[in-house]
Amino acid sequence: MTSSPPAGVPDVRSLTVAEKAALCLGSDFWHTAAVERAGIEKILVSDGPHGLRKQPEGGDHAGVGGSVPATCFPTASALGATWDVDLVREVGAALGVEARGQDVAVVLGPGVNIKRSPLCGRNFEYLSEDPHISGRLGAALVHGLQSQNVGASVKHYAANNQETDRLRVSAEVDERTLREIYLPAFEHIVTTARPWTVMCAYNRLNGVHASQNRWLLTDVLREEWGFDGLVVSDWGAVFDRVAALDAGLDLEMPPDLGVSDAAIVAAVESGALDEAVLDAAVDRVLRLVRRASARRPAQVDIEAHHALARRAAAAGIVLLKNDAGVLPLTAPRICVVGEFARTPRFQGAGSSQVNPTRVDIPLDQLQQALPDSQVTFAPGFTLAGPSDATLADQAVAAAGEADVVVALLGLPAADESEGFDRAHMNLPAAQIDLLGRLLDGPAPVVVVLANGSAVLLTPWHERAAAVLECWLGGQAAGSAVADVLTGAVNPSGRLSETLPLRLQDTPSYLNFPGEDGHVRYGEGVFVGYRYYDAVDRPVAYPFGHGLSYTTFDYTDLAVDVTGSSDAGDLLITVRLAVTNTGAIAGREVVQLYVGNAPADVARPPRELRGFTVVDLQPGERADVELTLTARDLAYWSTAHHQWVVAPGNYTIEVGASSRDIRLRSAVAIDATAPRPSLDAMATLEEWLADPDGGPALRAAVGTDDHGHPRGILGDDELIRIIGNFPLSTLAAFPGLGITHDLVTALTTGNS
Ligand code: BGC
Repeated sequence: MTSSPPAGVPDVRSLTVAEKAALCLGSDFWHTAAVERAGIEKILVSDGPHGLRKQPEGGDHAGVGGSVPATCFPTASALGATWDVDLVREVGAALGVEARGQDVAVVLGPGVNIKRSPLCGRNFEYLSEDPHISGRLGAALVHGLQSQNVGASVKHYAANNQETDRLRVSAEVDERTLREIYLPAFEHIVTTARPWTVMCAYNRLNGVHASQNRWLLTDVLREEWGFDGLVVSDWGAVFDRVAALDAGLDLEMPPDLGVSDAAIVAAVESGALDEAVLDAAVDRVLRLVRRASARRPAQVDIEAHHALARRAAAAGIVLLKNDAGVLPLTAPRICVVGEFARTPRFQGAGSSQVNPTRVDIPLDQLQQALPDSQVTFAPGFTLAGPSDATLADQAVAAAGEADVVVALLGLPAADESEGFDRAHMNLPAAQIDLLGRLLDGPAPVVVVLANGSAVLLTPWHERAAAVLECWLGGQAAGSAVADVLTGAVNPSGRLSETLPLRLQDTPSYLNFPGEDGHVRYGEGVFVGYRYYDAVDRPVAYPFGHGLSYTTFDYTDLAVDVTGSSDAGDLLITVRLAVTNTGAIAGREVVQLYVGNAPADVARPPRELRGFTVVDLQPGERADVELTLTARDLAYWSTAHHQWVVAPGNYTIEVGASSRDIRLRSAVAIDATAPRPSLDAMATLEEWLADPDGGPALRAAVGTDDHGHPRGILGDDELIRIIGNFPLSTLAAFPGLGITHDLVTALTTGNS
């Protein structure tokens, strides 16, 4: 339906079909189309999720060539580890200011796909293996960005969890898994942050391209979640423009000029496409253009943004271990090993690659921060080649002269990128070999990692004195690392993905990246810690883990339940206190997990349903309050096509990680399970269990002269054996007291 446009905005009805078709396509790689006759301007969209990638006119458009300089904020891998909604919102707002500075109307991010497998080449662009944290942090980015009147494009919707065969592969995912794992981040962002645009994924979902998947783009996104923005294709994700338009895909990027527009016009003329569908898409394009016109140019304070990038990078650093308090560094002689110390890796390759305004070098930053220590350096290995014996020998010799060794290791750019998945999770052999020799030396070794996706830490991490996971921390990662190593910043990052012991342990191991054009999400809802906890498998470091230079105590858990699930107003309020029990100020990330009650479906033992950060001075105590609603307890029932709260006892767990639960309580929840529809295919047991169906069936079957139920209803043992047969099947068995006429009468009465 086309409503009248506000004053000054062209009416879609005044446009020709050809003009309307043109508006549903870009005009070039990064611009929407203009219709000068009608006063419709074009707008510019640019990547990306952690920094602007505005390509100059005539650029290569493939992400490899240059873009104008912009602040490279930490990638999502690092932002996800901050667990800090306010900080991430600040980063989003800064991105918005940079977009205003470059006249960019829509920034193509954030990416909120779930890290299904650590092998996905684009994991550095995604926030977490968990939908709750992905949704909260993704919404924060959108809020920040759009606070500047710059639109976000939440991507890649949906089930785009690998790079292998990414434009053709069909993700085979059951609805419950989609609803519980792969859609909630999008749902939360759409319903709370109202992004201007959503970008559809490249892949197919259950056989249908995301770009022409009506269920995804219209039924769920618009009709269920109330999305009122525009759906844009991922670049090149449109395969059938008319089918895509009909399914709810408004804008095709980049435009297949002369092909897609002609197809739309022909479809309208032939009647194959209802013109109202085209009008609705054009309305959304015009609304986007109108929204963008509220944007004002901005001056970018490059220094301030660099400082924010540094703060955010430091907040995303996870201190995995710190034996005997080797960190923060105080030793007089420190040997820094690793080419990454002078050639840092801080972002990933592909469409998100930013041309940074500057890059902080870890070695320089460390030397500046520790003027009283002697900080020496040996590269130890090259980023590209195999082991270099000379470099390795030099590094081992230099390390022998030091009180502590700081080894900067990680994945070279060639190992992970948009466009391909990894085949293993190992650090390069040259680095592992060198690390082994360093660990054999006398000085304790602090390992500092830079990688966008999880790497294996076994077995060496057991012998390392400390391990810092810095992810790909953006252009200020070098100074952020120095901040944490020296204690200028007390680390507070927490893992937003599990670090497994072995690739074979990962939940999707047997189903990644699929075969013959299909990838089966066979692990279902058991993704990340949901799986490791369900099968009780040891991991290197659990989801939510991260140490601090101080310590925290959790006390005084109180759980209060009001309302009810059935009435739709269930509210569980969880209160507790956290105290800084150490000697320095620090930040704790309080995590709230729900242990699910037994249900008709297999459920993960615990799921993250809340978190918050608390900054505490030594000795300081803070009261923390988190709330849960019925949805936080619910599972998606495929049978009933709705969220269902199973009645029973739920465990409320508060902790410092998914495997460091500090406080626990249980709440009994009353809820009425939805009733199965009682038709001829419903089983005898289902009929008998139903409060209406049971008595109706018993009455229909009747009793004998002694008042005993007739047929099978008088034979409990038989019910145990064939009670799971549908009523219609039992009607075909003679002597059970159930006839076809009886079933027809019952089901007509119940239909
Ligand atoms: C990527 C998107 C990106 C787009 C534009 C695609 O290849 O998948 O994330 O926004 O290119 O560069």
